[in-house]
Amino acid sequence: MAPSSLKWALLCVALPWAQASPSASVLQSRDEAEAYSPPYYPTPKGGWISDWAEAYEKAHKLVSNMTLAEKVNLTTGTGIYMGPCAGQTGSALRLGIPQLCLHDGPLGVRNTDHATAFPPGITVGATFDKELMHRRGVGLGEEARGKGVNVLLGPSVGPLGRKPRGGRNWEGFGMDPSLQGVASALTIQGMQSTGAIACVKHLIGNEQEVHRMSLLGTQAYSSNIDDRTLHELYLWPFADSVKAGVGSVMISYNDVNRSSCSQNSKVINGLLKDELGFQGFVVTDWLAHISGVSSTLAGLDMSMPGDGGIPGNIPLLGHSVWGPELSRSILNGTVPLDRLNDMVTRIVATWYQMGQDQDYPLPNFSVNTEDAEGPLYPGALFSPTGVVNQFVDVQSDHNVTARAIARDAITLLKNQDNILPLRRNDSLKVFGSDAGPDPDGLNSCSDKGCNKGVLTMGWGSGSARLPSLVTPQEAIANISSHAEFFITDKFPSSITPNPNDIAIVFINSDSGENYITVEGNPGDRTKDGLYAWHKGDDLVKAAAAKFHSVVVVLHAVGPVLMEEWIDLAPVKAVLHAHLPGQEAGWSLTDILFGDSSPSGHLPYTIPRSESDYPSSVAIIQQPFGQIQDPFTEGLYIDYRHFQKANITPRFPFGFGLSYTTFNFSRPSLVPINPLDSEYPAPRSPKPDTIPIYPTDIPPAAEVAWPKHFNRIWRYLYPYLDNPAAAAKNSSNTYPYPEGYSTTPQPDPRAGGGEGGNPALWEVVFSVQVQVTNAGARKGRAVAQVYVELPASLGVDTPQLQLRQFEKTAVLAPGQSETLTMDLTRKDLSVWDVVAQDWKAPVNGDGVNVYVGESVADLRGRCTVGSGCSKL
Ligand SMILES: *[C@@H]1O[C@H](CO)[C@@H](O)[C@H](O)[C@H]1NC(C)=O
Ligand SMILES: *[C@@H]1O[C@H](CO)[C@@H](O)[C@H](O)[C@H]1NC(C)=O
Ligand SMILES: *[C@@H]1O[C@H](CO)[C@@H](O)[C@H](O)[C@H]1NC(C)=O
Ligand SMILES: *[C@@H]1O[C@H](CO)[C@@H](O)[C@H](O)[C@H]1NC(C)=O
Ligand SMILES: *[C@@H]1O[C@H](CO)[C@@H](O)[C@H](O)[C@H]1NC(C)=O
Ligand SMILES: *[C@@H]1O[C@H](CO)[C@@H](O)[C@H](O)[C@H]1NC(C)=O
Ligand SMILES: *[C@@H]1O[C@H](CO)[C@@H](O)[C@H](O)[C@H]1NC(C)=O
Ligand SMILES: *[C@@H]1O[C@H](CO)[C@@H](O)[C@H](O)[C@H]1NC(C)=O
Ligand SMILES: *[C@@H]1O[C@H](CO)[C@@H](O)[C@H](O)[C@H]1NC(C)=O
Ligand SMILES: *[C@@H]1O[C@H](CO)[C@@H](O)[C@H](O)[C@H]1NC(C)=O
Repeated sequence: MAPSSLKWALLCVALPWAQASPSASVLQSRDEAEAYSPPYYPTPKGGWISDWAEAYEKAHKLVSNMTLAEKVNLTTGTGIYMGPCAGQTGSALRLGIPQLCLHDGPLGVRNTDHATAFPPGITVGATFDKELMHRRGVGLGEEARGKGVNVLLGPSVGPLGRKPRGGRNWEGFGMDPSLQGVASALTIQGMQSTGAIACVKHLIGNEQEVHRMSLLGTQAYSSNIDDRTLHELYLWPFADSVKAGVGSVMISYNDVNRSSCSQNSKVINGLLKDELGFQGFVVTDWLAHISGVSSTLAGLDMSMPGDGGIPGNIPLLGHSVWGPELSRSILNGTVPLDRLNDMVTRIVATWYQMGQDQDYPLPNFSVNTEDAEGPLYPGALFSPTGVVNQFVDVQSDHNVTARAIARDAITLLKNQDNILPLRRNDSLKVFGSDAGPDPDGLNSCSDKGCNKGVLTMGWGSGSARLPSLVTPQEAIANISSHAEFFITDKFPSSITPNPNDIAIVFINSDSGENYITVEGNPGDRTKDGLYAWHKGDDLVKAAAAKFHSVVVVLHAVGPVLMEEWIDLAPVKAVLHAHLPGQEAGWSLTDILFGDSSPSGHLPYTIPRSESDYPSSVAIIQQPFGQIQDPFTEGLYIDYRHFQKANITPRFPFGFGLSYTTFNFSRPSLVPINPLDSEYPAPRSPKPDTIPIYPTDIPPAAEVAWPKHFNRIWRYLYPYLDNPAAAAKNSSNTYPYPEGYSTTPQPDPRAGGGEGGNPALWEVVFSVQVQVTNAGARKGRAVAQVYVELPASLGVDTPQLQLRQFEKTAVLAPGQSETLTMDLTRKDLSVWDVVAQDWKAPVNGDGVNVYVGESVADLRGRCTVGSGCSKL
């Protein structure tokens, strides 16, 4: 989502945001110009999944009693800066439903105090630790609840990380659909166990920041994704999220196949609500709402923050394409009442599903000020004031989880001569501003829109304020008896090290969301590329020229090129600490000084050169017209590409060393459910439980302004000045979108449950492996399961695909643990674009299953039907 400072909003209004020109640019090839998203109408209604039955029953009762104004109220935000949260709906207080607070973000409650800044998704992915993924989700949910946030806007699994320079990849869990899917599902289950509603985002194809939105003559880019790639990569983690019961989904800014996601009926109605059986509600990204009737019919359920319909999406003008216009579109018969009833039922059912009808707190913080008192509706300019911040401490003991994640994500990439761990009495010289504090103070830049001091997270709406920070400098100083610090990015030329001195050099690489440009990088890493910022390579090289031993510590949002120094003899060790969040210091010293062994693994590939990637994953910049991004690499992103192109990267996906070593033995593959057919068992028809409401258009008076109503300037309401006039127009004059219909589509065969046909989730094989600590120090190992599908499926498929993983407990030297990882039917299937279903090799014939410590370090292989062997 977009920014939350009032300054920003006023700036926006001053900007001459022009309406994007939809005309095709000459740069487009013929094929690109033909990208097309087929219509899919009407919106499938919610209320047919048994896990949601009780919530839908309650919602049915409540919604039956609602007036048109109350219904519209729950669908439309009250306008940006018209309340304490990033966005809030209107209320239906008569029926006990408060304004719902929707607020960022994926790593903590944004822009508030006394809340934990957890490590972001990419760091969580690097732990490969399911228990920590879940525990962080619980912590996020508890903090959201404690602050009165109904819907916490995370996790993020889109971008998937297709583009290594992409600005927001760090908010998600890594460049693989299964890693993202597992982590997202566990995060959601954790969050929602507390009563907070999770919001998985951004659906779909939001793979770069530049030109993601329509402004200044450019139209938001179009991600033109073929059906198979969409299913096997980009939609995969969303399917896992729906399967986990996620309550809401955020739509992305960009187009898919030249149709804006917020009004793309194929994406929302077809894929999300029919095929994936999603029961919650669909919300726009902030200010991504560009059409009224079209988006309603395409399946959108909630507009955030409510503003829209002004050319260029300028907020704060008191205008919405919903609110009063949604009321009008019901009264004039253009939008069928049952669509609105479904929208509201989905929202209210989700509220019941998480138990928010039971003592859920109201917001007790405000994003608009850090003071106790302030304007209640700053967007109104002249606003009543009141107590807005109660400074509720919601941190509990979440620092323990945050530190465990930051520590167990740290990925040891090189450790020559076992220089690590360090001893407490080693003579250390520490270099780099990334080891120290932000000289301008903690949280000096709003939304972390600067790179000063240790890099704890990227920038944008996915950031959170640090409640406190122990820097690496402070933590090292606390533990080492002989450390000297040079908190500068320019190597001090006067230094003459002793032979036993060890240099620790801190470098970083940052990125973020497009509404802030940091040191020339507009979200995506367009300027610095995959190189360390602040001349970090020079700092490492300068240290390597003087010291016999150099340890590099990297904080980064994604892959960083290391070729300038990684093979220099003095560069003995490299620790990739990802983005540690608030626990940057202690998590690092836990590893540096050997209290724990590193156990993180790379959630992406680190290349030798950026040209190792397919050229189609570069950031596309084009000032005029609409960018067509054709996704020509298809399934071959990250390691899938490196394997196909036979390129040896610098460090493969999944790679990570330890202070100890692990033996993998006794791999086994136990058949569980038979895979006795190509396609899954047919789905069941939807049960007859979908709420039914009267379809008569409600009395126009229901959306008349209430008498003596104290109206807030520019605030968005559901009311019309002249409701009776609206009711006079009849629907037959409305130019409905191509393919519009009110006759339900036949049930898609790949659907049938949350996430898809329940038969897809049947476990077909259980993989086991015994992991033994074969070294001299304690440590944790990660087992990764990769599948190789047979050519008999008739389609070109990546050589290896991660489908499962597990992490051991801390194993003492000589200690063993047997890890068990389940593979589902879907894990062994490809998307059959003709059948529109998932197709697996019958009996698993020809499937190879590998267990390894990385995609390039496979320790065991099982061939279905003919046993397993160590490799
Ligand atoms: C996008 O276009 C491709 C190619 O025509 C098609 O396979 C795919 O289903 C379309 N997807 C959507 C969401 O429109
Ligand atoms: C709502 O419920 C109340 C009391 O149960 C009833 O009197 C009223 O008519 C209902 N209103 C609608 C719109 O169904
Ligand atoms: C709609 O929501 C607004 C804001 O919460 C509230 O002032 C108004 O009374 C609500 N309208 C109805 C009909 O409940
Ligand atoms: C009904 O109202 C909507 C919302 O203002 C409008 O877009 C639509 O054109 C109207 N329909 C007719 C037939 O006037
Ligand atoms: C604020 O937080 C406290 C403690 O979590 C909670 O009891 C209260 O309901 C919240 N909301 C308000 C408006 O006080
Ligand atoms: C967490 O914070 C508490 C209170 O500040 C502190 O006592 C404790 O040591 C911290 N735990 C960790 C693991 O850092
Ligand atoms: C450093 O500490 C170790 C024990 O941890 C000790 O054996 C060694 O002598 C010490 N070295 C120096 C230079 O003090
Ligand atoms: C190390 O940190 C602990 C906990 O913050 C503190 O109590 C102690 O004084 C510090 N020690 C040194 C040497 O800085
Ligand atoms: C009624 O429909 C006509 C034709 O679409 C439109 O011009 C007019 O604005 C509509 N009036 C209302 C009140 O919706
Ligand atoms: C680990 O494997 C190596 C090589 O197979 C073997 O020599 C060693 O004994 C094993 N160690 C343990 C602890 O199993």
